[in-house]
Amino acid sequence: MPAIVIVGAQWGDEGKGKATDLLGSRVDYVVKPNGGNNAGHTVVVGGEKYELKLLPAGILSPNAIPIIGNGCVINLEALFDEIDGLEARGADTSKLKISANAHLVAPYHQVLDKVTERFLGKRAIGTTGRGIGPAYMDKVARLGLRVQDVFDESILRQKVEGSLKQKNELLVKVYNRRSVEVDEIVSYFLSYAERLRPLVIDSTFALNEALDEGKVVLMEGGQATFLDVDHGTYPFVTSSNPTAGGASVGSGIGPTRITRAVGIIKAYTTRVGAGPFPTELFDDMGLYLQKTGGEFGVNTGRPRRTGWYDAVLARHASRVNGFTDYFVTKLDVLTGIERIPVCVAYDVDGVRHDEMPMTQTEFHHAKPIFEYFEGWTEDITGARSIEDLPDNAQVYVRALEKMSGARFSAIGVGPDRDQTIVVNDLITG
Ligand code: GDP
Ligand code: IMO
Ligand code: MG
Repeated sequence: MPAIVIVGAQWGDEGKGKATDLLGSRVDYVVKPNGGNNAGHTVVVGGEKYELKLLPAGILSPNAIPIIGNGCVINLEALFDEIDGLEARGADTSKLKISANAHLVAPYHQVLDKVTERFLGKRAIGTTGRGIGPAYMDKVARLGLRVQDVFDESILRQKVEGSLKQKNELLVKVYNRRSVEVDEIVSYFLSYAERLRPLVIDSTFALNEALDEGKVVLMEGGQATFLDVDHGTYPFVTSSNPTAGGASVGSGIGPTRITRAVGIIKAYTTRVGAGPFPTELFDDMGLYLQKTGGEFGVNTGRPRRTGWYDAVLARHASRVNGFTDYFVTKLDVLTGIERIPVCVAYDVDGVRHDEMPMTQTEFHHAKPIFEYFEGWTEDITGARSIEDLPDNAQVYVRALEKMSGARFSAIGVGPDRDQTIVVNDLITG
């Protein structure tokens, strides 16, 4: 009954889509446990590129049943647009299932996301503007709307009324925006009811039953460890728990059933949006990594901030998630760099920290202490085993593995599914 969770180990965009796709043909279910259409997971197969947002990337794996789990927040308009877009490209989305307990993103959540960001001014988070934070706020405030509510008009209306009573005060009096009509929102959701109904299931039951039958379930986390609302660089985080424990809650698969937690980590670091980033580069090398790595957000098109590998972050992520394995991506992007710095510890106001400092203030002051590695110039995109890599690349990878807290079981040397060095099988190895 293998239940494998894939978790971003940095600030997102590590290559979770590629990792999911690599395992896709060997799993029976792929469930997305958290997030919404703030994610952007890329899959490249035979040069053909797909960018998944709300849907799990596993929807492209013909043998797997894709599920949007209870921990997600769903924008129905975005959901059906994405389904239609994939169908138009010849993909089969007919197996998709959605948890009856997943929450809904309402149009007013998107408005609130944008006005809140404006209101924060210099302290803005740099969200994706998809209404994710406000939808999770309503969930926790017990004012949320769930997928199942769309099938009970009277309940839906009551809940919308309850939520708008508060939202309209906020929109009109604080943010100087127009108020929202209950009818408008109720009609908006009801207009999707018919198309939604056949997709909705008790996904917790289905997934646990699948595990009982010995099926393989993959949890494809959205976002990443340092965007986790508990374990990330708060407040510069998303509003869900993208860590491995969150995947348990967000899918209804109990923690004792998770057999493996795989951290996806880039051979360097990127971040989109605001917040601290100790190894960030502000020079030409930063631009070089951005250009060579194609570091532009899938979701919003924003350029990603770039910096060197940070082993302090990796060790922390290993701990928080209980990683059994790492899948290191984008090693190929470092080809041609003469000397590669790796952050091994922080200097915080003159004091060395080998592990994540306790407070946000300290982390904001953290300056990287680097160790340097000799680069390589050979093209590594054809490497399929560690031994195929030039000596310096092998030294780099092995050194990173030693300092990161979990074994390196796969190494990405290009965006395509096949451009991967598999060291240990991520399901059985
Ligand atoms: P996700 O959000 O974690 O799924 O990652 P994204 O799809 O947002 O960003 C990762 C980007 O890196 C995508 O463009 C992938 O196609 C690409 N990618 C993944 N693995 C590799 C790799 O090993 N090498 C290279 N060059 N690109 C990769
Ligand atoms: P994937 O799954 C990178 C970032 C946003 C912002 C913060 C909060 O592709 O790795 P939100 O809209 O969630 O309230 O924004 O989180 N963010 C991501 N950054 N990859 C993602 O997803 C992200 N999802 C959210 O840029 O800083
Ligand atoms: Mg992404």
